[in-house]
Amino acid sequence: MTQPLVARTREELATALGGLGDTRTALVPTMGALHAGHRALLARAADLADRVVVSIFVNPLQFGPGEDLDRYPRPFAADLAVCAEHGVDLVWAPAVDEMYPSGPPSVRVSAGPLGDVLEGAHRPGHFDGVLTVVAKLLGQVRPQVALFGAKDAQQLVLVRRMVADLDIGVDVASVPTVRDPDGLAAASRNVYLDPQQRRSALALSRALAAGEAAAPQGARAVRAAARDVLAQQPDVVVDYLALVDPATLVEVADDATGSLLLLVAARVGTTRLIDNTTLTC
Ligand code: PAJ
Repeated sequence: MTQPLVARTREELATALGGLGDTRTALVPTMGALHAGHRALLARAADLADRVVVSIFVNPLQFGPGEDLDRYPRPFAADLAVCAEHGVDLVWAPAVDEMYPSGPPSVRVSAGPLGDVLEGAHRPGHFDGVLTVVAKLLGQVRPQVALFGAKDAQQLVLVRRMVADLDIGVDVASVPTVRDPDGLAAASRNVYLDPQQRRSALALSRALAAGEAAAPQGARAVRAAARDVLAQQPDVVVDYLALVDPATLVEVADDATGSLLLLVAARVGTTRLIDNTTLTC
């Protein structure tokens, strides 16, 4: 197993990218603490390109005050081992000062109205921070394809929208949400959960499954079924449960038909979890 190159500075990145040659390159942006969901992205990236670059950067810009920026897990050695296993060519892991040498950038990407709903309503400025760093990463690495997970459905919609609206010449590819055997969506923040909280957290994926099962009865039944599951778990504090149009993220009417996105965000103790599924009514 060959170890990936690691670049910590822009200079090292330029040298490493030059060494990789003029081949089709995939970028997988991450904040590290790599898990099965990230592994699915790495595997897909290897299918789509000759060279795979993974960025590992916990982006302060997308964390709100009081969020978990300081305690976010940073197991760099383990992450490198995962990248090596997947044949990743280059890991781009800049320090905050390297990414933002003049401090927080004064010019940023605005996510617009799609960034103000759902996650954005609970995490003001979050998607501006995400899109700003993704735009920077795309500019730094200049990949032909960039990969994102369906687990972060709103992020995926917004990245696609940014690439289209700003004419950023990159293909965006996605992978479906990877789940642990018990149904919990793989997430770096799952390590915060104690065993009891982890059991409670299963209410999110159970609620989505109940929504899927109710889809033949219509949108209203989907919402009711998912809400019922969550209501039975008092230690799961729901931020939102929404059934939306997957393109506009606008809440759909009770009699809506077609492909719809059911999303949930909730807190279990101090841990905030999100999950979603696509269903057809
Ligand atoms: P992070 O949470 O590390 O996720 C990196 C990528 O992995 C994202 O595209 C995310 O959707 C995907 N991912 C996470 N869990 C997944 C799962 N269970 N199944 C499938 N894919 C999953 O998302 C971010 O980092 C950041 O916002 C980033 C895009 C790197 C910008 O800072």
